[in-house]
Amino acid sequence: MAIREIRPDIFSVGAIDWDRTIFDELIPLPEGTSYNSYLIKGKEKSALIDTVDPTKTDKLMTHLDELGVENIDYVIANHAEQDHSGSIPAVLERYPDAKVVTNAKCMGFLTDLLHLEEEDFIVINDGDELSLGDKTLKFIFTPWVHWPETMSTYLVEEKILFTCDFFGSHVATSDIYAKGNHDVYSGAKRYYAEIMMPFRAAVRNNVKKVESLDIDIIAPSHGPMYKDPKFIIDAYKDWASDEVRNEVIIAFISMHGSTRNAAEYLADSLMEKGISVKVFNLSTADIGEMAMALVDAATMVVATPTVLSGAHPMAIYAAHLVNALRPKLKFVGVMTSYSWGGMAVQQLKGCLSAISPEVLEPVMIKGLPREEDLVKIDELADEIFKKHGTLNITEKSGGE
Ligand code: FEO
Repeated sequence: MAIREIRPDIFSVGAIDWDRTIFDELIPLPEGTSYNSYLIKGKEKSALIDTVDPTKTDKLMTHLDELGVENIDYVIANHAEQDHSGSIPAVLERYPDAKVVTNAKCMGFLTDLLHLEEEDFIVINDGDELSLGDKTLKFIFTPWVHWPETMSTYLVEEKILFTCDFFGSHVATSDIYAKGNHDVYSGAKRYYAEIMMPFRAAVRNNVKKVESLDIDIIAPSHGPMYKDPKFIIDAYKDWASDEVRNEVIIAFISMHGSTRNAAEYLADSLMEKGISVKVFNLSTADIGEMAMALVDAATMVVATPTVLSGAHPMAIYAAHLVNALRPKLKFVGVMTSYSWGGMAVQQLKGCLSAISPEVLEPVMIKGLPREEDLVKIDELADEIFKKHGTLNITEKSGGE
């Protein structure tokens, strides 16, 4: 990422990772990502807000060299995860007088993750301020977006809120600001779905907390910044609300076509009733796309054959992932195709212990669906239609 001056003496000095394809060895990155780091030069002190992933340390150092930075007083660690903290040791080596400024919990994590020493730190509390001379940093604790120590840093005079992961997006772009809201909506929603959704209550609290600030710019540490903070704040409010949409996710895996047959029949039956459907073949699906669908959907149906004495391992994986993401699903259905063992339903139910959707009557099909099986699938579609009718459901499509 080329150095960009955001305001006088405030620079974006991080790195773009154009071709990174996966994060946490789990999350696909179809649009790459960036690790944004911000240098703030005050009249008396200078601060670096977050660093970059250790694979991009050289980029950060080159940018600091190009700006002729001879001294950094404070390295603000908004979050301990290594894609932001991983270059702190290199920064401290280059600028040995610098102190890492963060909260006590983050300090604990950084000493474990990076083997920093206690004397490397200045520990701050929620609401504390740090003067750079003519500029003031105010620390706003925003826990559980998405680790317990996460915080934001507010540059008071410039009304810039540095939020790290909060409001971020895994998007590699040369645009420093989100250009059109629709361009960034999908990336930000995918990001929310993958790491923020399990902590919806914390997200709501933190949105309320930062909303009370007078903000000109939201500057996350992934993806573009927002000159229109209301756009991303409103999107977060929508995603983290309890409101669901008239949508059904059908996640299926099929070995010889029977389960696919049932899944596609269910999709048609639901569509005939005016219900939106998103179908994912679990053998090829981008789990980020499925996570995005889970932000809004009222219902999910998992369709699996029986293999190795139970549900297909990909169906178990999907159910486990859903359980971990804790979406606001209201209803879950299971369809299973089997020949001699029908344990899949109990197994899948057991995977969903962290969420409490109503489990609909399962559809169990012996082999290729017969006429009577199609009737059962239609009954499942009818049941979903009726259940959705009992909800305060919305058809709106947000910023999509
Ligand atoms: Fe971008 Fe939680 O790290």
